[in-house]
Amino acid sequence: MQNIVLVGFMGTGKTTVGKLVAEQTGMPLLDMDSIIVERAGKSINDIFADDGEPHFRSLERDLARELSLTEGNIISTGGGIVLNPDNIADFEKNGLVVCLLADAETVLDRVRHDTARPLLAGDKEKKIIELLESRKPLYESISHCIDTSGRPSPVPTAQEIIDLYRSNNS
Ligand code: S3P
Repeated sequence: MQNIVLVGFMGTGKTTVGKLVAEQTGMPLLDMDSIIVERAGKSINDIFADDGEPHFRSLERDLARELSLTEGNIISTGGGIVLNPDNIADFEKNGLVVCLLADAETVLDRVRHDTARPLLAGDKEKKIIELLESRKPLYESISHCIDTSGRPSPVPTAQEIIDLYRSNNS
């Protein structure tokens, strides 16, 4: 049984949509950032501050390799998962990889009050625009993309993913 792997920039709704898909399919939801935090015993902010981003990326890489060997899970990834193409290649071996897209305005709206994302510390709008621009080709290269810009509810997005998964697995 394939995994469903949710990819996308911060604030595109991976976790929210993942929870809905989990509720409706009964498949377990594995949230990569939560697993990394639990195993490290510290927050994403503290991992970045104490150990640096390269260390976080290596924890993320190891976990992607590990989770890509599982079956029948919904895997919600961190926004930077696309930075290493090996992560996507591994997930594609046994997963329907779906990328959620959103424009900078939508992302800013969704993360405006968030303080848990180290890469957005400081001038959030500027950082979102810059990071989104530099990563755009990586997100857009994923074969299934859903643009969630301006969508007030995650429900239709979750349904699209379920339909896609069912049509791929029937
Ligand atoms: C990151 C996204 C975050 C988290 C870390 C780095 C990124 O996950 O993994 O702060 O590089 O885009 P979310 O996409 O769940 O916010």
